[in-house]
Amino acid sequence: MIMDVVNTIEICQPDDWHLHVRDGDVLPDLIAHTAQQFARAIIMPNLKPPVTTAELALAYKQRILNARPSENSVGSSFEPLMVLYLTDMTTAEHVKNAKQAGVVGFKLYPAGATTNSDAGVTDLAKCSAALAEMERCGMPLLVHGEVTHADIDIFDREAVFIDQVLEPLRKTHPGLKVIFEHITTKQAAHYVRDADTSRLGAIGATITPQHLLYNRNAIFSGGVRPHYYCLPILKREEHRVALVEVAISGNPRFFLGTDSAPHAKGTKENACGCAGCYTAWHAMPLYAEVFDAAGALDRLEGFASYFGADFYGLPRNTGKLKLKRQQQSIPESFPMGGSTVVPLRAGEMLAWTIVG
Ligand code: DOR
Ligand code: ZN
Repeated sequence: MIMDVVNTIEICQPDDWHLHVRDGDVLPDLIAHTAQQFARAIIMPNLKPPVTTAELALAYKQRILNARPSENSVGSSFEPLMVLYLTDMTTAEHVKNAKQAGVVGFKLYPAGATTNSDAGVTDLAKCSAALAEMERCGMPLLVHGEVTHADIDIFDREAVFIDQVLEPLRKTHPGLKVIFEHITTKQAAHYVRDADTSRLGAIGATITPQHLLYNRNAIFSGGVRPHYYCLPILKREEHRVALVEVAISGNPRFFLGTDSAPHAKGTKENACGCAGCYTAWHAMPLYAEVFDAAGALDRLEGFASYFGADFYGLPRNTGKLKLKRQQQSIPESFPMGGSTVVPLRAGEMLAWTIVG
């Protein structure tokens, strides 16, 4: 990594290990933003209907490839990495086919946890054959770590998930490689940091820019701010601080996953607004801001460009990405197919700009 007086940083090109790009006519607009910065991204399978088989994933992958920026322009070689949606019906055979098709993981959405999760898992015991096969063939499980019972407070759902679901799951399947997605709490950060992987399978975690930058006050500052609402929801300041601490620690269990989750403006600015923050356009400047504020710009490259690839057993990228300390404003919205999407911190400033 080359650094001058920290006004410019050049890092190995990063990857986004957790991304939503939806489907259909919105794909070109969304992929263009991600492909400006990231060489690869794990594409979440929570479409309607969900991406549950290798065949569906390969077809979806092709639609994404077709939507990439045109040849010879930036981002034309962007590579989508496909993940399948785990359901009560997923079998060992599905896992074997997925492995053969180059699928990189399965995603566990507890039923009802978030956007398009109705088909999610109601009882992990129903997936035991699939999970055993995943253990056997080294297929990672990506986990949306929240319990869904209505009697558990929304701010406690992640911490409760660790005790009630994650730890028992890892004990039942000690060979399972798990990625705790978009962690939001001190409990999750410390669970992953302190996990004894000589006893149980490897564990990693992705962290979003919004959970590193904001606490739950952002959702309510001066009025309800739907573009700061995502799931798992933003938490108290002490949790944000714990997330920054592990993200900048250089611990390879923690890596970048934006969870950029676009929704049309009208479905967020709504009496029952959708969950999701759109960060694909400015993800790397946002992360740079976090690492800069913590005096840890030298740790950004590991978090953004190395640890995820290493965890998934994929080669690190060979390209570079350059960021400059140069202010720019974030547009109020972007075109998204026939609609528009409002980015996180719309209309405000960014301290960093991608320059190459
Ligand atoms: O805020 C979120 N939005 N959290 C999720 O888990 C799903 C995502 C989406 O797909 O919109
Ligand atoms: Zn997500």
